[in-house]
Amino acid sequence: MSFNTNETDRLLSTTRSVKNRLDLEREVSEELILDCIDIAEQAPTGGNQSSRRWLVIRDPETKKGIADLYREVGGKFLKEHSERLDGTGHHNEKTIKASSYLAEHLEEVPVLVLVTIYGEHDGSGRPGLFDSVIQAAWSFCLALRSRGLGSAWTTMHLGNAEKIAELLNIPEGVTQIVLLPVAHTLGDEFSPVSRDSAREITWFEGWGKTTKKPTNGLALFQDGPGLTVETDIKATPERLWDLISDINLPSNFSNEFEGAEWLDEPPQEGARFKGRNKNEKIGEWEVTCYIKSFEPNKVFAWAAGNIEKPAATWEFRLTPLAGATRLSFAMVLGPGPSGLTRIIEQTPESEKKIISNRQRDQYVNMRRTVEGIKELAEQE
Ligand SMILES: Cc1cc2nc3c(=O)[nH]c(=O)nc-3n(C[C@H](O)[C@H](O)[C@H](O)COP(=O)(O)O)c2cc1C
Repeated sequence: MSFNTNETDRLLSTTRSVKNRLDLEREVSEELILDCIDIAEQAPTGGNQSSRRWLVIRDPETKKGIADLYREVGGKFLKEHSERLDGTGHHNEKTIKASSYLAEHLEEVPVLVLVTIYGEHDGSGRPGLFDSVIQAAWSFCLALRSRGLGSAWTTMHLGNAEKIAELLNIPEGVTQIVLLPVAHTLGDEFSPVSRDSAREITWFEGWGKTTKKPTNGLALFQDGPGLTVETDIKATPERLWDLISDINLPSNFSNEFEGAEWLDEPPQEGARFKGRNKNEKIGEWEVTCYIKSFEPNKVFAWAAGNIEKPAATWEFRLTPLAGATRLSFAMVLGPGPSGLTRIIEQTPESEKKIISNRQRDQYVNMRRTVEGIKELAEQE
């Protein structure tokens, strides 16, 4: 029997971390919790072993104990951070505010479910252990949501895991994974949120390799093959913006834009600059570039050669992380003609191979660029 994917997709894309909209007044029945655990236990488990154990807590005193230990780890930080961000429009303002609210009201949530597993992490570097429990805990959240209940994935208490173990009499050799506050939700309308699109974060046939169109394998030129290279840098987006928007980035780590100059001022969407490049195979060349995106501290993107049919488009993107910024450097080949299209014309039967090799070469160059930017930004 096939599924109604409208409904399953709605479930999967609207199971939010519910913090502000937990109904703190309404009882949650034990049957509901156990039904959801039965569903969750259908999740895969390594070696088909049953090692997950679920702890359901509703005694007010025990909940208060857990809530105090939870807040001891990060309650003060959340409260202060939330007050600092209040009204700033910071990308994390709502999340921190909701997390702070949850921390303050944790003991008022009708049920706390602690998901655990027999075993301890072996430090091998493979997910080990956790890969036999996290999918079950998430299935539990989905089962709750489909029954009008909500939860939030929380881990802050793990900073006090030993004290929690003592409080709940959890034996040695058991690992606590996640604490799920469970309640009926206030209203049941939740919306999908904005996340990276699959095309931006999915690589095909090798790390960083992208295509604009579906390819079902190695890309042809008409598919819009590209490459994305990323690195996390301990610097602010503002500092990195100065570097990525400088069309004369120092040439010691990149041969792009040596002696480049702006043709239109100020730099903004639609403005042009002349790039000067050189490499061992082709020698030196000049190319007019058109700014496609100029969002300070976020995106700097340009098309090379022709705005309608560029030889390639390039993009630097900055994403703030906790204590760092992720720099993504992406390139898409075509659709306009270039040195690459001339090579393909000579041996069209090798088109996929030629493109795949070009992506590999570009990877090395682009990695050198982002590593160079990282070095510059972090040395200060
Ligand atoms: C590994 C992990 C740990 C988390 N720990 C906490 C936590 O301790 N406290 C909290 O309030 N939220 C925690 N969250 C919830 C995130 O804040 C939440 O997923 C994020 O705000 C996005 O909201 P959404 O799930 O509705 O998209 C955690 C989420 C994950 C995946």
